[in-house]
Amino acid sequence: MIDMHSHILPGIDDGAASLEESVEMARIACANGITAMVATPHGPGKDLAESLRRRDAALAELRQALARENIPLRLIPGMEFMVTDNIMELACKYPDGFYGGAEQPSRMLLLELFPGYDLKFCKDLLFQAQLKNIQMVLAHPERYSGFLQNLDLLEELLDKGMILQFNAASLKKSWFHLRRKNAILKLIRHKPGQIFLGSDAHDTKHRPPIMPMDYGRWTRDEGRGTMDEGPYGPYGPYGPYGQGR
Ligand SMILES: [Fe+2]
Repeated sequence: MIDMHSHILPGIDDGAASLEESVEMARIACANGITAMVATPHGPGKDLAESLRRRDAALAELRQALARENIPLRLIPGMEFMVTDNIMELACKYPDGFYGGAEQPSRMLLLELFPGYDLKFCKDLLFQAQLKNIQMVLAHPERYSGFLQNLDLLEELLDKGMILQFNAASLKKSWFHLRRKNAILKLIRHKPGQIFLGSDAHDTKHRPPIMPMDYGRWTRDEGRGTMDEGPYGPYGPYGPYGQGR
């Protein structure tokens, strides 16, 4: 099972604060059936080239620690980009920020929106991305305030090729968030092959790297099972290991 969104790298952003915490997060992930994790620290930061250098250094450090501790979690480089006016140009200039980094190059860009962002502008963002041959992945759309009001729009964006990344925790059994959960399930059913799930883990306690296997089974039952490392490889049917659309 692959976790497509995490803040496991030590000392980079508001995720793991130390190498010890990162290692503990990796242990929790493995114990919960996660076999690979895309490390997606917040970006672009003031200087994207520098942010990517720091990411790669932290990734190398954590990989060494995992090898030392015999923790079989495979780490894949990535980044979660906050949307800015020139984000598409910037992403093209430094393609290491796409899912897979330089190791497994792709054109998939994980994009988050700032609070209060009107989801309607995503249509324009997707258009800008497609002009530059970027596969836009919208991070946790369910966290934005207009989510429930924009389900038709999100279906339309899926039809146009956008990938939606939901946080696994948003699919937990919860009466309080039942409407939101049902809305997510509806979108997953609409285009199961264009859905990524991630833990968006930040630490070991409050936002741990847990994606219960039920979710994996559920997505498999629904269709392609983008969370599995099965025939499609770590990015579902899209990725560099994938078999094409
Ligand atoms: Fe995140």
